[in-house]
Amino acid sequence: MHMTLPVIGTVAAWRARVRGLAAEGIAPGDVVWQVGEDAGTLFADARPSIPPRQLRINRAALHEIETALCHSDPERFNRAHDVLLRLNDGLVWGDRTDPAVRRILEQAKSVRRDIHKMHAFVRFREVGASGPRRAFAAWFEPEHSIVEVGTPFFAKRFGDMDWVIATPLVTARFDGQLRFEETRSTAPPPPDATEELWRTYYASIFNPARVMVKAMQSEMPRKFWKNLPEADLIPGLIRGAETRVRQMQEREAEEAPARRLAVARRMATPDRPMPEAGSLEALRAQAADCARCPLHAPATQTVFGEGPPDAPVVFVGEQPGDQEDLAGRPFIGPAGRVFDEVALEAGLDRGRIYITNAVKHFKFTQRGKRRIHQRPATPEIHACQGWLEAELAMIRPRLIVAMGATALQTLTGSGAGLLQRRGMMEQTKKGVPVLITIHPSYLLRLPDAELARAERVRFCQDLAKAAHFLAA
Ligand code: URA
Repeated sequence: MHMTLPVIGTVAAWRARVRGLAAEGIAPGDVVWQVGEDAGTLFADARPSIPPRQLRINRAALHEIETALCHSDPERFNRAHDVLLRLNDGLVWGDRTDPAVRRILEQAKSVRRDIHKMHAFVRFREVGASGPRRAFAAWFEPEHSIVEVGTPFFAKRFGDMDWVIATPLVTARFDGQLRFEETRSTAPPPPDATEELWRTYYASIFNPARVMVKAMQSEMPRKFWKNLPEADLIPGLIRGAETRVRQMQEREAEEAPARRLAVARRMATPDRPMPEAGSLEALRAQAADCARCPLHAPATQTVFGEGPPDAPVVFVGEQPGDQEDLAGRPFIGPAGRVFDEVALEAGLDRGRIYITNAVKHFKFTQRGKRRIHQRPATPEIHACQGWLEAELAMIRPRLIVAMGATALQTLTGSGAGLLQRRGMMEQTKKGVPVLITIHPSYLLRLPDAELARAERVRFCQDLAKAAHFLAA
């Protein structure tokens, strides 16, 4: 049996077809999949003769399988079909001894890598303006079908401009809304005068700290180089790079492109009243659009708190880190792992606690590919305070634990003298008890192993106080 899938929305169409095939009892080996037919054929074989079958698949498995479906391997549809049916019949997800599962995991990984490359290597050229918005275009040749999953990143990062990313198969277009269409011309744009201008522009924004030729070659296969108009400028740029790196280090590191920050500042509305929300979930949804301070612009997303809405204890940290910013969840990076370990030792039941941050966006400076954490400034802490207060008002915990000076400042009005105040109880303006302790990342920064061990024990003692308070 032949099954055709559209070029846009391939994965969703495959999912629907597989349910239909499962209902009809058609085995994976009896299907030949193909991408890119005309709509007539598409709808002809899309209509199952009986209602589609619901398959019970866990979310993590489905996510990996659908990521792997973006791979260019023509066998991927049959393999995924087979694994989906077997998962529904009790196969345990993640078993790498199963060749099909292993292949899916490997392919999902290489799709993620391709997406990462797209994020790192797409180069926009300015192509004019449409009204007040500037317009940009880029050509990119991914290895896999990643345009639909890879471009929401650009919509988030470059939401204040119009842009087009063309690839040989699919073109993504953004004008406030992200749309996809099949690419009509499969040839990259010719190198012309505009290209020349763009090269000059690139030379002026060239970041010498990024020139690590070996790393660049291993990260970016040669096939990507031809899409970079700057490629033949690189040798000259490298020569001047060392001096410029030194100059850059001497200057204060740039926080985010000036233009983006300027826009963010205009959009920042710290004095606007906090929205009313009837539930923690509604509050989370409102916070997702927060633009009360400029930190929202370079960050990937708002990282809201997590935990039961009636948790008896709320832990408050400083702000999300790099991994939290990407995943949209608090305390899942290195500091979160320390917190988890020590909380377990202290007898805290993580299922009963709510964990959040004083500031809900990641503040960082970009150094090459790395995003280096920066402490939030007082205006940023103030701009975000309303979210924390609203979370606390909704949860009404019996105890709040302030981890680190920023949380302490937000909760009590002063973050000074953290190490003298740790282990003690104070209270918020509303009279809720606040237990003071260090931030778990402090333990990661201590250079002396002995001191780090001793501090970890004290942190554990502080958390044990919270556990006793809850048990009382
Ligand atoms: N540090 C914090 O304060 N919060 C996080 O979510 C992660 C690291």
